[in-house]
Formats: sequence, structure tokens, C-alpha cells
Amino acid sequence: MKLVKTPDEVRAWRKTMPTLALVPTMGFLHEGHLSLMREGVKRAGVCAATIFVNPTQFGPKEDLSRYPRDLEGDLAKCESAGVSLVYAPEPASVYPAGYQTYVTVDDVSQGLDGASRPGHFRGVATVVAKLLALFRPDVALFGEKDFQQLQVIKALTKDLELGVEIVGQPTVREADGLAMSSRNAYLSKEDRQKALGLSRGLFRARDSRERDAEKVKAMIRAELGEVREDYVAVVDSETLKPISKIEARPARALVAAFVGTTRLIDNVAL
Ligand code: PAJ
Repeated sequence: MKLVKTPDEVRAWRKTMPTLALVPTMGFLHEGHLSLMREGVKRAGVCAATIFVNPTQFGPKEDLSRYPRDLEGDLAKCESAGVSLVYAPEPASVYPAGYQTYVTVDDVSQGLDGASRPGHFRGVATVVAKLLALFRPDVALFGEKDFQQLQVIKALTKDLELGVEIVGQPTVREADGLAMSSRNAYLSKEDRQKALGLSRGLFRARDSRERDAEKVKAMIRAELGEVREDYVAVVDSETLKPISKIEARPARALVAAFVGTTRLIDNVAL
């Protein structure tokens, strides 16, 4: 496995690869990330991963400076997942002095995390567009854990005609249901227990087969307990617009909540 830090090194390596899968990450890797990498190897034969804590997707009061990092551990995990190249650039090589180009995706970026985290999806769309343009992969893999992000990336790939297949992969969970997340590292033992309210509520709502969105949301809220809700939503899986009845079209329940000061998100198909 190769480790590179600059765009020039990526371009030179890319020329030697006939097909390529790409998995962008912010590091502090867990099984969720590794499942994407293994699937990338399966689909394209060769998989590259990126590890970059992208400053443009963090708000001024968010956790950029304390976001967990472990490059050495991450490299060992990438290698075990069959990754061929890791790109771990410095911020100054992604956003050099004079940088001025940003990608905004309109409709699906609005609401949900887009409403709670102004500018977040502009940062995500910008860095993902840059990585797709740099690597020119055949396929790029993203987790359904970040369901709105996945829809934003699908829209930008289509609208900018990047010609990359965007694949969404199911959320990998701990044995007790908690969705794996690098941010789970922030949770105390007590908060870790409280955090189970998110997945418990979502599973109950899904398993109830309830079709009335208000009732679905009430079921989720009932399980949140001491966890402070940011939003609970039932939306059309494609447009991410709220719906009142779950009918033929695919629907999704999403929740964002603060466990202490840690903001967690989770979602399920209904
Ligand atoms: P990060 O949170 O590191 O996640 C990288 C990828 O792993 C994303 O596609 C995310 O959806 C996926 N992922 C995270 N937890 C998962 C889980 N439990 N199961 C399955 N997949 C999971 O998302 C980002 O980084 C950034 O916004 C990024 C896209 C890299 C742009 O900076």
C-alpha cells in the first residue's frame, strides 16, 4: 500500500490504474469505513482511500480542532481492507492560498443537517467534487449512515456530469445497534448508553410498519429519553422532502440529537 500527500502523486499513480474505486473519509477509521473499502476492491479490483479532515465542512463552533485522528492506525486498517493507495493531504495542499471555488447543491442540501449546519454541505460537496476530479474513479462509495450527504453527492455527480458511479452502502452498527461513527469516541460510558436511544427509536418505528409520519416521529421521540433532539424527520428517500404518509415511494426516517455536547445522526429505511 502506498501513502501519498500531494495531487501530483495521485495523478501519476492514477495513470497506472485501469479501473479504480474511491472511498473518501476523514479518518479515525472503523468497520463502517472498512466495509466501503472492501466493497470498492470487490467492484473495481483496485481501491484508493482518502483521509482528510476537511475544514470547509465544519462550522466555526464545531469540532474541527478536536476531531479524532490516528493516521498510523488508519493506514494499518486500510491495508487490511485491501486498499492500494491512501491520499492524506495537508489542508494547504487542498486549499492553497487564493483558493476560491466552491460547489453548492441546492435542493437536497436544504433542511435536516443542511438547516442545522449552515455551510456544511457546501464544504462536503466542494471536497468530494475535488477528490472525484483528481482521482477520476469509476466508482465511489459512501455510507447510508450519512444519508443526506449521499443524496448531495449523487446530485453533484449527476449535475456536473462527472461520470462516476456513486454507490451507497448500508450502515454498519455496533452489536447493540449504535451506528458506528468516529464521533462515538467523544462519548463517556454513560453517554454511550444514552446514545442507544437514536437507533432504538428508529428500529421501533421501522418495525411497527406504521404509515402515518406523525406517529412514526412520536415513536422515535419516545425512545430518545435524555438525549436532546435536533430533528426527527420522515422524508421521501430521494427528494428528502417531508412526507405525511408513507406510501409506495421509498421513505426514510432520520434523527439528529445531542448526547451531551456530541451531535449524532442516524436513519433507517421505512
Ligand atoms: P467520514 O465521516 O469519515 O465518513 C466517510 C464515509 O464513511 C462516508 O461515506 C460515511 O457515510 C461512511 N460511514 C461513516 N460511518 C459509517 C457506518 N457506520 N456505516 C457505513 N458507512 C459509514 O463523511 C465524511 O467522512 C466526509 O463528509 C467526507 C465524505 C469524507 C467528505 O469530507
